[in-house]
Amino acid sequence: MDNGTQHAARRARADERTSVAPVVGGVVVIVGVPNEVGEEDRVALVPPVAAELVEDGHEVYVESGAGEGAGWADGEYESVGCTVVADRETVFEEATVILQVQALGAVDDPHIEQYREGQVVIGMLGPYEITDEQLAALADRGVSAFALELIPRISRAQSMDALSSQASLAGYKACLLAAADLPKMFPMEMTAAGTIRPADVFVIGAGVAGLKAIATAERLGASVKAYDIRLEARRDVESLGAKFVELDLETEESGDEEGYAREMDEEFYAAQREQMQEVVPESDVLITTAAIPGGPAPELVSTEMIEAMDDGSVVVDLSAPTGGNCEPTVAGETIEHDGVTIYGPTNLPSQISHTASGQYANNVANFLENLLDEGELAFDFGDEIVNSTLLVHDGTVRNPHEDDLDEGDSDETADANEEDASGADEDEAASGDGTDAEEVSEA
Ligand code: NAI
Repeated sequence: MDNGTQHAARRARADERTSVAPVVGGVVVIVGVPNEVGEEDRVALVPPVAAELVEDGHEVYVESGAGEGAGWADGEYESVGCTVVADRETVFEEATVILQVQALGAVDDPHIEQYREGQVVIGMLGPYEITDEQLAALADRGVSAFALELIPRISRAQSMDALSSQASLAGYKACLLAAADLPKMFPMEMTAAGTIRPADVFVIGAGVAGLKAIATAERLGASVKAYDIRLEARRDVESLGAKFVELDLETEESGDEEGYAREMDEEFYAAQREQMQEVVPESDVLITTAAIPGGPAPELVSTEMIEAMDDGSVVVDLSAPTGGNCEPTVAGETIEHDGVTIYGPTNLPSQISHTASGQYANNVANFLENLLDEGELAFDFGDEIVNSTLLVHDGTVRNPHEDDLDEGDSDETADANEEDASGADEDEAASGDGTDAEEVSEA
């Protein structure tokens, strides 16, 4: 769904809500957008999406300079009705809901003391990295924290799925990095000076990032191969025009009900490495994206395989943040090993900050919309999206990895997965069925 369509869908839901409970001149939610910490050029809210929140009666506080890295000036936020403030403290003092791209467990120094009682924080909060102490400290402060990484892969949540929107951009950028660095052209061409052979690109892991890397490499005219342990990925790879690499591995149990890969044992990975020994060395570009949610990346490409690639070949290991799929990868660095350049990027979406922020802002606004009931913040614990993402609430640490859904929710997951496969629409994206809703008091 493109930005315009997302906006229209959100507007329609907002209109529906307004007709049930008109917002009469009052502020509904006070949203705060602080500057990101660390090396991050994205921003959690962009002016076009902020404009919609303001139109709906919400108030938006933006810390000065928050949008700069993504190409949005303070004046552009002001022109749509946001209040831009010079100091970070004011944002945290005023806001009921803090929107961030990366915070808490996803950053080195989360400054937990900046959040205040009753505040809701929504962002990529590093739920697998956050420590028990940090969670306890947040609970003590009475914060409600939603980690967008834990959004379930159900059709109703697609418009909020920040991991996917950002991974897709990372896949695109990974392909462009390789194309720019490779001393060969990607496309085949017949020229007066002779025929140019297309570059050989091999993508390991055909999830969100991998499929986008495949699509980008195909558009650039490369000869693309890909492999994934999930059987259903074959259809996606082939529909993009790439060749699916056949490996003789037992992969029946490789996927879970949400479409994520399960962790396999070391024997499996050893067999996989063995069988990929021919494909990797004959590739000019290797893009690796194999991931197990919440776990370390499987090591699938040995140093030996990389040494067998031609000089000038390029490897982009998108799984670098979780340990890398290639043995020599160094997270956050670009190294040269035996004539092969190996990228270990940790935040490619930040390098496409304008587009990435626009997509993220849509995800986060849709997520916020799902937390509102008749214009007020209300957490519906019967809603799988709320239930899976809420790390801390009401002084209590909730186990983010515990599957505490009731049977009805599980059925919804199964049904939605079927709809996902058929590209179902998101009209059902209205909030849950209203059971177990808990009003959240304005802090
Ligand atoms: P995803 O879960 O959609 O895809 C991962 C794919 O790897 C799945 O299709 C899975 O079946 C496959 N896989 C797992 N084990 C495999 C194996 N042994 N062999 C072949 N395939 C295997 O994940 P997504 O969203 O595409 O992200 C991919 C990776 O990229 C993740 O590690 C993510 O953290 C990372 N990422 C990195 C960024 C960066 O800037 N470096 C930015 C965004 C995402």
